[in-house]
Amino acid sequence: MNEWIEQQLSEVAARGESRQLTAWPTLGPYLQRADQRILNLAGNDYLGLTAHPAVREAAARAARDIGTGATASRLLAGTATLHEQLEAELADWKGHPSALLFSSGYLAALGILPLLAGRDDLIVADRLCHASLLDAARLSGATLVRFHHNDIADAHKRLAKRPHHPRCLIVTESLFSMDGDTAPLPELLALAQSHNATLLVDEAHALGVAGPRGAGLTADQPEAEENLVTLGTLGKSLAAAGGFITGPAKLRTLMINRARTFIFDTALPPPTLAAARAALNEIRAHPEWPRALAEKAARLRARLSSAALDTTPSQSHIIPVRIGDNHRATAIASRLSEQNTLVAAIRPPTVPPGTARLRLSLSLAHSDTDLDAAAAAIQRAAQNIP
Ligand SMILES: Cc1ncc(COP(=O)(O)O)c(C=O)c1O
Repeated sequence: MNEWIEQQLSEVAARGESRQLTAWPTLGPYLQRADQRILNLAGNDYLGLTAHPAVREAAARAARDIGTGATASRLLAGTATLHEQLEAELADWKGHPSALLFSSGYLAALGILPLLAGRDDLIVADRLCHASLLDAARLSGATLVRFHHNDIADAHKRLAKRPHHPRCLIVTESLFSMDGDTAPLPELLALAQSHNATLLVDEAHALGVAGPRGAGLTADQPEAEENLVTLGTLGKSLAAAGGFITGPAKLRTLMINRARTFIFDTALPPPTLAAARAALNEIRAHPEWPRALAEKAARLRARLSSAALDTTPSQSHIIPVRIGDNHRATAIASRLSEQNTLVAAIRPPTVPPGTARLRLSLSLAHSDTDLDAAAAAIQRAAQNIP
């Protein structure tokens, strides 16, 4: 086996796709290395809530008052009042009929897709959908076809081949994790409605930062209730961990009965639930945050574009800087790290071959001065590293 592992690792290295872990003593929009403060543009704490005193205190209090773990799956003795409170609050925030928690967004995807599509059915997914959605589609056993990114005509063409599939599911992200652009949701919803299909929208990167109340780009769609299911994560803006599905109330009941990653999994622990509730409370109390983050992003994007860097069509707080070559992207990221700016070099298989990029993800906790300095450092590194 060792030989096989070594061969795999050398293949990964030869493609410039090696990955390593780096451990930090604390986490958040700024990191600490020895006595250096590091600007973290590789995290998803978009609102800086992991450090918020009310969020930390809520988690600590729940650990003290309720316990550190859930002890069991939800259907055994693992459902705390906190689970149901958070579910009701998430559904209310999104303006959707119901919400059900899972231990992560990934597990939510693995739980829901096989319920919405089975062996005889069709899944039509945007080509840039997150790996968790694609894995879930494969697990469902349905026929999976992928349409060109955000291309409604192509999605329509692939759906039109549907007649022999009893059920059909269209899958997209609302705000794409690696490109920072947004899906044409009204058109996708209309497409789903006209084909009697369900639309599943992954809102992982839009929650807290886009849509009414920061509740994502699918918030408040009463006319879509029958056809719309959404997936969210609590691990990014909501400063905790976990995932959830929103949709019709009957779907919630079905998931409780049939979603295997819900049934056969230990429930989320009280401190995590309490942190997410406190974060949600802060988000609802600060409707100005999404705009403030968008302004920060616009400023950084303008600086990068004026330095002739390719920031792609992103309009959000996720700003990709297109580099192309894997090795060059990694070299630029390590140069930036030496200068106390952490950016992720995103390479295949996370993104298509030849589209390696630096992915800058902004947080409201980042100062404009630091972001301006980062833009200048990125420009220098890109100029100096061929
Ligand atoms: C677009 C998207 N969907 C789903 C997930 C999975 O969510 P979680 O991290 O809660 O498992 C992620 C997380 O990285 C993501 O970026």
